[in-house]
Amino acid sequence: MSVVNEKGYDFGNICRHCDQETVQPIECIVSGTIPKWAEGSYVYNGPGITKIGKASYKHCFDSASIIQKVTVSASGSASYMSRFLRSQAYKRNMKAGTITVGEFGTAPHVPDSEKGFFSKLRKMTDMESVLSDNAVVSIVNIAGKHYALGETPFMQELDIATLETKGRKSLYKEGGLMTQTPHPVKDKAGNSYIVGQSVTLTGPKYSIIKFPVDGSSPQTIAKLPTRWRLSPCYMHSLGITENYIILVEMPLAVSVSEIMSDMFNNLAFIDGMKWHQESVFVHLFDLRTQKPVRKKFTASPMFLLHIANCYEDANGSVVMDFPCYADSTVLHEMYINKLREPKGAKNKEFCDRFITSITRLVLPLNDNDSRTEIGVKGLPLSTTASFENPLVNPVYHRRKHRYIYGMGVSPNGADKGQVTKLDVETGEVKMFMEDQLYIADPIFVPRPGAADEDDGVLAVVCVRSDVYKFGCLVFLDAKTMTEVARVTYQPQAVVPMPMHGLYIPNTLP
Ligand SMILES: [Fe+2]
Repeated sequence: MSVVNEKGYDFGNICRHCDQETVQPIECIVSGTIPKWAEGSYVYNGPGITKIGKASYKHCFDSASIIQKVTVSASGSASYMSRFLRSQAYKRNMKAGTITVGEFGTAPHVPDSEKGFFSKLRKMTDMESVLSDNAVVSIVNIAGKHYALGETPFMQELDIATLETKGRKSLYKEGGLMTQTPHPVKDKAGNSYIVGQSVTLTGPKYSIIKFPVDGSSPQTIAKLPTRWRLSPCYMHSLGITENYIILVEMPLAVSVSEIMSDMFNNLAFIDGMKWHQESVFVHLFDLRTQKPVRKKFTASPMFLLHIANCYEDANGSVVMDFPCYADSTVLHEMYINKLREPKGAKNKEFCDRFITSITRLVLPLNDNDSRTEIGVKGLPLSTTASFENPLVNPVYHRRKHRYIYGMGVSPNGADKGQVTKLDVETGEVKMFMEDQLYIADPIFVPRPGAADEDDGVLAVVCVRSDVYKFGCLVFLDAKTMTEVARVTYQPQAVVPMPMHGLYIPNTLP
């Protein structure tokens, strides 16, 4: 049992230490009725191990990945299991009994024998081992294979049945990437795309990588220049419409020289990132011509992690909806010590730093407009709810949507999370909350053949703030946001709060 935080939202729940897997599936308790069409596996990635030996990870994005899975079988029964991702970083760290591979906010432990100049120099010639392959962020399906992804250029292939790590693909080797967006987007044909930062002879570039739906090798389809010559901008996501890929260049600069220097000196990478209170640039890449669009769009400074959906409207403009922060402060608020510390009366103030507003950018693409730079204004669609991990019904990807779903802290900072449905046409908001229930990544499963956009279930994976060895997957009617079924599991191990998940129907491998 944990200490109940009666004063408010307990951010410690998002960075729990879990040092035990649940490799043998355990039976879950199922209440209510899970629709037949929502049976399958719900697989999640996120931070698990927060300390190794005497060393602790510093940032919420650093902890060693644990993959969790809830499987709902055709008989209606359900099971839960988990397994640590066997990355090379995990194996090296476990063997050494300490953190030997640097992460976003954590410096590696380096033995004295490797602190000399030449040792450091030798290390820098082997980026494959300097960059961590702890792919802790998401789980994705690319050309029928399932991968765990993080922000470094490695894709860890998973066996979804056993959750074993099958091996890694290196986009550093195959595409020269140093980073990648862990949220690929798919075009109508099923090809997947990510963007990453690569370093070329003429400086850093944004490389757009295409993963063909037929499973053939990834292709670099574009290398786009960065706004600052030696400082590309941080990107966690990219957008896609029917015809365009959308890159948002936020003013969070990643200094290549500082990052290299940090690596050389065994420091954490986050120190090489600097926020500049300058405009956001939005770039479009035309999938038909395979060329960047000449027009560039600018908007007031803002920060985003995820994009809910993008589409082309009746005027041919590109519309993009996303949760928006004023700046990148939130990244610096996610140090584990900071998240875990009791905040007392300041809890609500801390919660407010995680509040976003769903914002819309409309990018006009009128051929008669000869301007090459067009200023656009972010339109707030909701300021009454906190949204992260935004999503729409997947049938509406790249199409005009009406409803956006997302999770976040409770509206008044109380000891619970919430999941919200926003009607972007009326502004109406519907929420699901329960005391001590902390909601992670929502997943929308549409009812087959549904006519209404919100006809389906929203599967929300949850932990409780008062019981650590407990988790549940709650199925909500996506129309009413009321509970229709719940799968509850109580393993022998701590259940960490996942970051992102994927639904895999029983009909798929
Ligand atoms: Fe993410």
